[in-house]
Amino acid sequence: MFHGIAAFMLLIAGIVLCSLPPVPLKAAGEPFLKLVDDKTFVIGNDFWNLTTGESFGTKLWYKGYDLVGNASGHYVSYNGAANNLSWTLTPPKIHRKSGIYTDIVFSAKEGDVHFVLTPTLTGAYQYFVNRALPKLGEFRTLWRLDNATFTHGFTNSNDLPLPPLSDFRASTTIQDETWQRKDGTFITKYDLSTFMPSVEGDLAFWGIYGKLPNGEGVGSWYIHGGKDYLNGDHLKQELMVHRESITGDAVLLNMIHGTHFQASSGDDFAEGKVWGPWLWLLNDGSPTDAAAKAKSENADWPYKWHIDQSGYDMRSFLSGRVVLSDGRPAAGAAIFLGDRDSKLSTLDQGKGYYYRTYATPDGKFTLENVREGNYTLSAWPNGGPIGDVTTVATKDVNVSLFDYDIGDVKWETQNRKKIWQIGSIDRKATGFQYAGPPHEHARAEKCPKNLTFTIGTNTEKDWCFSQWSRGIWSIFFTLPPTTFVNNTSSNAAVLSISLAGYSSGIQSTVRVNGVLTVPAFGGASVKGDPGLYRSATTAGEWRLFEFLVAGGGRTGSVLREGENRIDFVVVGEPKKWSGFMWDSVLLEWA
Ligand SMILES: *[C@@H]1O[C@H](CO)[C@@H](O)[C@H](O)[C@H]1NC(C)=O
Ligand SMILES: *[C@@H]1O[C@H](CO)[C@@H](O)[C@H](O)[C@H]1NC(C)=O
Ligand SMILES: *[C@@H]1O[C@H](CO)[C@@H](O)[C@H](O)[C@H]1NC(C)=O
Ligand SMILES: *[C@@H]1O[C@H](CO)[C@@H](O)[C@H](O)[C@H]1NC(C)=O
Ligand SMILES: *[C@@H]1O[C@H](CO)[C@@H](O)[C@H](O)[C@H]1NC(C)=O
Ligand SMILES: *[C@@H]1O[C@H](CO)[C@@H](O)[C@H](O)[C@H]1NC(C)=O
Ligand SMILES: *[C@@H]1O[C@H](CO)[C@@H](O)[C@H](O)[C@H]1NC(C)=O
Ligand SMILES: *[C@@H]1O[C@H](CO)[C@@H](O)[C@H](O)[C@H]1NC(C)=O
Ligand SMILES: *[C@@H]1O[C@H](CO)[C@@H](O)[C@H](O)[C@H]1NC(C)=O
Repeated sequence: MFHGIAAFMLLIAGIVLCSLPPVPLKAAGEPFLKLVDDKTFVIGNDFWNLTTGESFGTKLWYKGYDLVGNASGHYVSYNGAANNLSWTLTPPKIHRKSGIYTDIVFSAKEGDVHFVLTPTLTGAYQYFVNRALPKLGEFRTLWRLDNATFTHGFTNSNDLPLPPLSDFRASTTIQDETWQRKDGTFITKYDLSTFMPSVEGDLAFWGIYGKLPNGEGVGSWYIHGGKDYLNGDHLKQELMVHRESITGDAVLLNMIHGTHFQASSGDDFAEGKVWGPWLWLLNDGSPTDAAAKAKSENADWPYKWHIDQSGYDMRSFLSGRVVLSDGRPAAGAAIFLGDRDSKLSTLDQGKGYYYRTYATPDGKFTLENVREGNYTLSAWPNGGPIGDVTTVATKDVNVSLFDYDIGDVKWETQNRKKIWQIGSIDRKATGFQYAGPPHEHARAEKCPKNLTFTIGTNTEKDWCFSQWSRGIWSIFFTLPPTTFVNNTSSNAAVLSISLAGYSSGIQSTVRVNGVLTVPAFGGASVKGDPGLYRSATTAGEWRLFEFLVAGGGRTGSVLREGENRIDFVVVGEPKKWSGFMWDSVLLEWA
């Protein structure tokens, strides 16, 4: 109202005093919201504008071109495409103006989507405030843009042309969003997945880019300065960009509550939970420019201009040190501040706010901008000098609105004597043959069906990242007589199997010196994660199994002085693309 009057006064002044051409009824550069009719709205500034209907933003003008074209445009949805939010609760309106920021709100029955514009920003900050989302897995915002303009996808592990739709059409569907070409190679959107940059300080940005019809570059990006509203832990992976397989649209996803790689993921959200603000940015297509912007967004987080629904936006600074019960500092440990007393794994948690970092070599950590709340802090090894610890440290932490040091967090180790270990516990297959980015469908098939590994002779890279087919993987090792300190049958060993991921449809047994020690490993008793069949090559969801290997005496026991052997024997015919993804195998005296 005030602005309207001011502009009107200016208009009168212009006509009366100088006879200048009429000044528009809007101060130059001011972001705007126009209600065209009760179902059509336009928001924008002098540099871009978006026409949106009840659910879909269908025209995005930038540099004289409509970037949506025949694609679906902008929308917000949950549980896949089963529920698209509709702006039918109340007409969109200007929620707030603060300095250069104009906050425009679109209200759906499930919650409010805000677009925050400035006079010059090409793009907008966006955030969502929950009102009544049902318990759900997937929740996202996305852009589906013109595929002649947006030809490439960029993530922290890929920078590639999106595969053309014609390629899909000429191939055979083999599973969930996966096709096989006539030459045997695969096309799947999951190859474009990556780890969601969710650790404090990570540059979180990804986009789709290409060229406008006039040859100028153009890119559309999501940039997350904050990460605390994202679900899961340090190893959260998501799909970020892809080619829509029915329409051919170029898709830029913003999986703010994603579920593509978890064993389970259904959360109830408190009314008022806020996701964002994140930045949606239009630029000239340069990833370097997007990276620079991601850096400055990190520095600006939490945004001063944004005030939570609760009326304040204060955050705490938390510090502490994690020390193992054997005296070692928790060097490089993964530190996660998550839900209090949750029965869910750290990866599967998603109802609240989460803070993630890695400890320094002396076990110290700091977590910045933590919201008030009652959390449980967890620490686990990220390889390195403590990559032989199978336990997880936890401590309850109540965060109120001041900064503090929580002191030492004590981490009880399993306190056993190591015999040998293959790999290092870091919840990743890193170090094993064929492990590591980028995501790639069926990479596991490069791993042999049968494998032998001799302790002391072979090294980590001789162990393959995934066991996926019928066959036997054997570990050979020698136990010297001196190992048997107490020479009694109670001197048992513990075999720990740390899996970086497990996709169900495969089962094995474990034999120690021919004796069936673990009758069934994997199978129905273990809830699978989609990692291996959705192109994961580093991790799915972490799991630890510990098995007692009875008897360590010189005679009458399973383990013996001299030559020993442990076999992982896959039984039955495994389901295609299911498998075990290894993190570490560890044998210790009980
Ligand atoms: C949106 O941008 C287009 C292209 O620049 C322009 O023609 C149109 O008037 C703009 N819409 C509004 C409501 O300003
Ligand atoms: C959209 O589709 C129509 C009809 O199929 C076609 O004529 C037009 O060229 C398409 N526009 C773009 C931008 O692809
Ligand atoms: C939501 O939108 C997508 C994209 O246009 C569409 O495929 C899907 O059918 C819509 N869902 C519903 C329930 O209308
Ligand atoms: C772009 O989408 C159109 C359908 O709108 C489709 O025919 C075309 O193959 C797509 N282009 C690419 C490169 O996939
Ligand atoms: C957290 O715990 C404190 C007691 O220390 C309690 O007063 C507060 O209500 C709790 N907050 C939440 C969000 O549960
Ligand atoms: C932390 O909060 C919990 C409630 O969630 C409460 O039981 C506990 O006493 C609090 N601890 C401290 C130190 O305030
Ligand atoms: C794997 O080993 C088993 C048992 O020794 C053998 O029967 C099988 O043929 C081997 N498979 C391959 C592919 O070498
Ligand atoms: C061997 O037995 C002695 C006496 O019972 C005990 O103190 C010692 O810890 C045992 N050693 C190991 C490695 O179990
Ligand atoms: C170890 O066990 C063997 C076989 O039972 C026995 O002959 C031997 O005396 C034992 N040694 C000690 C030091 O107990």
